[in-house]
Amino acid sequence: MGKRLIFAFVITYSTALFCSQIDIGSDNGKIGDIVSSGVIQPGWTFQNAAYKSPPSEAILYLYIRGLELIGPDFESIEFHHEDEAKPDDHKWVWMNVTKDEKISGLFSEYTVYKVEQECLNREGGTTLHMNVTFGASGCDPITVNWLKICGQPTTTRSGLSVGFGTNSAELAYDGIPTLLFDGNTKDDSYTVSSDLDDILVYIYMTDEITKTFLKSPYIITDHEVMYPTLNGSAMTGGWLDSERKELQINFNCLVDDGVKEELVLVIEIPYFHDIELHFFKKCGSIRKSKSKISWGVILLILAGGGGMWLLWYMYNKRVNGEKICEDSCGDAISGIWSWLKSHKPQASMLKKPASDKELGSYEGDDGKVGFNVHTQYGTV
Ligand SMILES: *[C@@H]1O[C@H](CO)[C@@H](O)[C@H](O)[C@H]1NC(C)=O
Ligand SMILES: *[C@@H]1O[C@H](CO)[C@@H](O)[C@H](O)[C@H]1NC(C)=O
Ligand SMILES: *[C@@H]1O[C@H](CO)[C@@H](O)[C@H](O)[C@H]1NC(C)=O
Repeated sequence: MGKRLIFAFVITYSTALFCSQIDIGSDNGKIGDIVSSGVIQPGWTFQNAAYKSPPSEAILYLYIRGLELIGPDFESIEFHHEDEAKPDDHKWVWMNVTKDEKISGLFSEYTVYKVEQECLNREGGTTLHMNVTFGASGCDPITVNWLKICGQPTTTRSGLSVGFGTNSAELAYDGIPTLLFDGNTKDDSYTVSSDLDDILVYIYMTDEITKTFLKSPYIITDHEVMYPTLNGSAMTGGWLDSERKELQINFNCLVDDGVKEELVLVIEIPYFHDIELHFFKKCGSIRKSKSKISWGVILLILAGGGGMWLLWYMYNKRVNGEKICEDSCGDAISGIWSWLKSHKPQASMLKKPASDKELGSYEGDDGKVGFNVHTQYGTV
């Protein structure tokens, strides 16, 4: 809200000649939702065009109030759509803006402009920037911007690539995730190794003519494992063409136990199929955990081994030919053994698949310790 007020304030004071008597609405009951007192409302500017006209809306009416205060020379002076410079067989929309005398005649206080924006029959779909500029001799022109959707929203965005390089498409091609990043083929999924804190991908259109509108990409993951952030030119979304937009994913791991967590990078393209890229990130290095655990293991071996030796020694030690401890020492030894078993470090400190090589060799060590102790106990 505050932003809007500041925005309105800046417009007001930077445009000395703005048509302060003009209000424009999308309907006669909504006068002022597009332009209010000469100020273009948020969502109708070029940078922030938020109104999406669906494919079926072939005509848009603009209700204008206050013209009589400005004079008879107020009119639609220009209109544009994003495709206008393209060859005819690449155009998506046909546009014309005229004063609708019939509807205008029904109202005394409004003048109604009719914006024709007919989608042309073509394969696929697109989102286009559209605008109309009104002007009068007494004040600055007012341009109203919106987005026009044409075509089928369920179609994938052909020509859209996501790659690790500026000319590659390892993640998505023609708006479709590659096998490596497809959520339905998770077995082959891509894993970002634990030594990478961030990765950089490039999003772009492969052909020179087509543009597409992206919403801000976002990531779905377990926020107890990591809290990813995004930055780069693709982060804010907006119009995408053949110029490469960068997206940096900063994983911000919150754990370091080597856990492998799934992430889904979602790129929404209005009226096209979303692109959902599935992959994994390993948080923390096994090496780090291993060295940390090794100290624990060494201490356990030393403490356990020392204790066992002491008990073993006492068990066999005879005072005047009599054993000084028999059953009680056996109980103590088995007590230490079960304590050691229940405090196996990999059980509590690692929740890792056994397929990991480093972990596998570590488990082997521990097994040997266990085996030795068991042997010692077994001989008692
Ligand atoms: C109107 O739309 C055209 C085509 O998208 C664009 O190039 C132009 O900058 C827009 N004009 C304004 C004033 O927003
Ligand atoms: C727009 O409509 C007006 C009035 O009907 C017509 O004269 C003009 O040729 C049309 N413009 C286009 C681009 O078709
Ligand atoms: C993202 O932010 C980091 C840290 O500010 C910066 O070093 C990096 O260049 C940014 N990446 C992109 C693609 O802008």
